[in-house]
Amino acid sequence: MPLYDLIQSRRTVRGFTERLIEPQLLRQLFDQARQSPSNCNTQPWHTYVVSGQRCRQLAEQLYAHVCSGHPPQPDFGFMASYEGVFRERQVACAQALYRNLGIAREDKAGRMQALLDNYRFFGAPHVAFIGMPRSYHTVNAVDIGIYAQTLMLLMTEQGIASCPQGALAYYPELVRRELGIDPEVGLLLGISFGYEDSEHPANKTRTDRAPLDENTRFLD
Ligand SMILES: Cc1cc2nc3c(=O)[nH]c(=O)nc-3n(C[C@H](O)[C@H](O)[C@H](O)COP(=O)(O)O)c2cc1C
Repeated sequence: MPLYDLIQSRRTVRGFTERLIEPQLLRQLFDQARQSPSNCNTQPWHTYVVSGQRCRQLAEQLYAHVCSGHPPQPDFGFMASYEGVFRERQVACAQALYRNLGIAREDKAGRMQALLDNYRFFGAPHVAFIGMPRSYHTVNAVDIGIYAQTLMLLMTEQGIASCPQGALAYYPELVRRELGIDPEVGLLLGISFGYEDSEHPANKTRTDRAPLDENTRFLD
């Protein structure tokens, strides 16, 4: 598929089938993603790919942990709230999802449940947690973002759907403990992935983008 078609066909999927990805293809995806560029070629990503039964188990633990009211304790700073045009875009994207899920504006419990579904990886049979050394900064987080997009495009090319989730970086202690991750590795995001459940109402969600001239200037 031409690159721009791939870029356009990748979208966030929040409903998956139970079908597992063949181990060889799974390895290939992460092997190819290593080709991403990074500052001084430091390749700061630490990636933990969890599949099948272990993935289901982790989802149960994480979901129970969040439901029992533990406060988020992310390794790196996060935005508490968006303002202005950013807030408008955030609201539009949430509304599009809630509309498809049949969650009314005043339905607080419904919205909370939709949020909590993040911690069950939206039913995906695979999840990848991606981190970098805890002492690293924004400049290195850029590398992780580029790596994550490379990975998701490679998945798209293979017909594999994905959901990048900042929410999966909010409870890093539990994830580190359960997966035996080095305490020096800070988690930046998780990506739930697998084959799309095309019947799932969440997957009817589409987002748009601001016009080019709203955020890009060509100077000469
Ligand atoms: C770094 C990052 C973090 C995200 N975190 C979440 C998340 O925690 N939960 C979620 O449901 N979607 C999450 N998303 C998905 C975005 O909502 C989605 O990318 C955006 O609405 C654009 O839609 P699209 O991916 O379908 O093009 C995240 C996306 C990115 C890039």
